[in-house]
Amino acid sequence: MINPLRGMKDLTFEDSARFVYIITTAIEISKRYGYEYIETPILEETALFRRSVGESSDIVGKEMYQFEDKGGNDVCMRPEGTAGVVRAFVSAKLDRQPSTQKFYYYGPMFRYERPQKGRLREFHQFGCESFGEASVYEDFTIISMIAQIFDALGIGYELQINSLGCENCMPPYKENLVAFLTDIKEALCEDCNRRIVTNPIRVLDCKNTNCQALLQDTPKLIENLCTECDSDFSKLKDLLNNANMSYEVDTNLVRGLDYYNKAAFEFVSNDIGAQSAIAGGGRYDKLVEYLDGRATPAVGFAMGVERMMELVQMPEPSRGGIYLGTMSPEAIDTLLPLAKSKRLREQVTVEYQAKKLKAHLKAADKIGAKVAAIIGEDEFANGTIWVKDLESKEEKTIPVEEF
Ligand code: HAM
Repeated sequence: MINPLRGMKDLTFEDSARFVYIITTAIEISKRYGYEYIETPILEETALFRRSVGESSDIVGKEMYQFEDKGGNDVCMRPEGTAGVVRAFVSAKLDRQPSTQKFYYYGPMFRYERPQKGRLREFHQFGCESFGEASVYEDFTIISMIAQIFDALGIGYELQINSLGCENCMPPYKENLVAFLTDIKEALCEDCNRRIVTNPIRVLDCKNTNCQALLQDTPKLIENLCTECDSDFSKLKDLLNNANMSYEVDTNLVRGLDYYNKAAFEFVSNDIGAQSAIAGGGRYDKLVEYLDGRATPAVGFAMGVERMMELVQMPEPSRGGIYLGTMSPEAIDTLLPLAKSKRLREQVTVEYQAKKLKAHLKAADKIGAKVAAIIGEDEFANGTIWVKDLESKEEKTIPVEEF
């Protein structure tokens, strides 16, 4: 028997119902905010992720499903969705249009991480990217939209926010940070030592408890923001306060991808174990330019569907659809055209085998049908059909063409 690869899962039965419910709810809500569907390839040139997610990130450094294809091209299974959407945005020259443009997407992402609870090698994201709006109101709106999606799905969360500054305030801060970290580098772990050189901001994110204790007194970027970043971050906090949305400012929230600036945020759940982030995102105003487009401010997020599947509260199943059956083999020819016309509007299940009434009713009940419609021998002779509403228990026999 051949099993799926480690860290990859089949989506079946109850799981697939949860998956579809999450995606359809997220689509419905994001459409109300003006997002339209975008689909980009799963396989992209490796250079795309190197330039966007960043050489020094774990995703690019250690976790890519990267290989040479038969034509000798260096390609990679997408580890996240933003880079592909930005590439598509630039490829279609949408960066030359003056209006705001918003896209939603969902699908599989691939990261060669060590699998554990909540961490897969193939997982699914639902994400949104908004282009062309520099205002902090858009950051607030996108955070509100994520909250609305979680609320609709009955998923509890905590919101963490931070500001990652901009090209004016980040470089001097980085210098300060490197000086601070260099002084304590002997006591920091190997990963931190590597990051001091490759990506010092990521040191703040180290999960090692010893390092965390040593990092307590590091200079904080939010205390060193430039006037514009500081005022945007204050405005974001005001907007969240006014909307009665609770949040925590986490100065160590740096995100694992290099393209962010200004607002960064994560939604976390305390009910799913160590891998607690259920959505993450932020502003990435320079990425369109890095990928050869015209300067376009942008903000977006992605949610982890498998993690949400652990938390989602499914609505009570309600009865729906029609079950069609016969008690005599000849009547099947009447059922098929009937099923076809009913399927224009409703879900129909047809049982091809002639059976006793009791067996039909049991089967209709098992699939949760609302109506069972059966043609018995008498009904077949008279051109009628016996119909039972399985909710109200009402029964009637009517001419087939009236059903
Ligand atoms: P990310 O934080 O890397 O952001 O991933 C977003 C979400 O995907 C996480 O919060 C988590 O729920 C889920 N996730 C990540 N890795 C795994 C995994 N190995 N197994 C299961 N779930 C996982 C991004 O990917 C950015 N592209 C988000 C973004 C969009 N920023 C701006 N626009």
